[in-house]
Amino acid sequence: MMSTVAESTTSHGSKITIVGIGQVGMACAFSCLTQGVTREIALVDAVENKLRGELLDLQHGSLFMKGPSIQASTDYKVTANSRICVITAGVRQKEGESRLSLVQRNTEILKTIVPQLVKYSPNAILLVVSNPVDVLTYVTWKISGLPKNRVIGSGTSLDSSRFRFLISQRLKVNVKNCHGWIIGEHGDSSVPVWSGVNMAGVRLRELNPKLGTNEDSEDWGELHTKVVNSAYEIIKLKGYTSWAVGLAVANICQSLLGNTHSIQTVSTLVKGQYGIEENVFLSLPCVLGENGITNIVKLTLSEDEQKKMHDSVKNVFAIQKDIQLK
Ligand SMILES: NC(=O)c1ccc[n+]([C@@H]2O[C@H](COP(=O)([O-])OP(=O)(O)OC[C@H]3O[C@@H](n4cnc5c(N)ncnc54)[C@H](O)[C@@H]3O)[C@@H](O)[C@H]2O)c1
Repeated sequence: MMSTVAESTTSHGSKITIVGIGQVGMACAFSCLTQGVTREIALVDAVENKLRGELLDLQHGSLFMKGPSIQASTDYKVTANSRICVITAGVRQKEGESRLSLVQRNTEILKTIVPQLVKYSPNAILLVVSNPVDVLTYVTWKISGLPKNRVIGSGTSLDSSRFRFLISQRLKVNVKNCHGWIIGEHGDSSVPVWSGVNMAGVRLRELNPKLGTNEDSEDWGELHTKVVNSAYEIIKLKGYTSWAVGLAVANICQSLLGNTHSIQTVSTLVKGQYGIEENVFLSLPCVLGENGITNIVKLTLSEDEQKKMHDSVKNVFAIQKDIQLK
């Protein structure tokens, strides 16, 4: 019926594997495919019917995407030669449950996943999303044996995006012109860097020296409280969070595959930064490229922000030290 001129190829060297096809995994897959981050996706989960269902549902939208190649299986063979493996498998945070209380259950799951990913894609970057994300990124780093630049947690990329959205709502200015980082733990002890919050280069602290503090009459601190409570609120309302994290993950993948050297707050090994001595993963603004994290941006933190960063370390390490890795 047709004569072959050239073999069609589906491999563009940008294959992304997503392990765990729950609400978060599918939001990641959908964002990556529809935003043109990759054409090649492999989905892995423990539940075969769900995999088949999601595969068919996505494939039926092929006409509206850019020539996707989607595979799905419980067998990790489908993940071979991935550039990035996104891990969203795990037990979901229940209403009111702290992220840190999920840890050992999800560690056991990672012990079955990570060696398989490394076996089939030894050069891949592992991007951990499952919660508690900072602790589980450490666990993944330990289990994988990969260099630290290639094991990344989505960390506070979502928190920073929520923060910027809330700043933009207050200022009534486009979110892209509102800048601010949330660093530290993705969770209750996250640290808003008020000293750096700016709109188009105008630092809000210069206009309001009490910005974000307890004495701030404008109560900007409320924005950080909202960021911390976001997940709890959304889970209470709809049972899970998915779209924003899916977009944040797609954005990280885009930076890695495109070698864009763009900066995002992601979870990385922070030992040696700001006098931190523990082997913990926390978020700082990182430069992302084809080898994973190439640089960590050294923020000029106020004394209070440094103290809060150390509180984040304590919070995460308190849980991490009791994990059974073997
Ligand atoms: N880092 C973030 O910003 C962020 C945001 C939202 C959610 N999360 C986390 O993402 C994770 C997933 O959330 P969700 O709402 O998609 O949960 P979900 O329950 O909808 O999906 C989890 C999926 O993992 C699969 N799974 C479980 N064990 C597995 C295994 N051994 N191998 C392969 N697959 C396995 C399940 O079958 C399920 O499909 C949770 O840990 C959640 O807390 C992180």
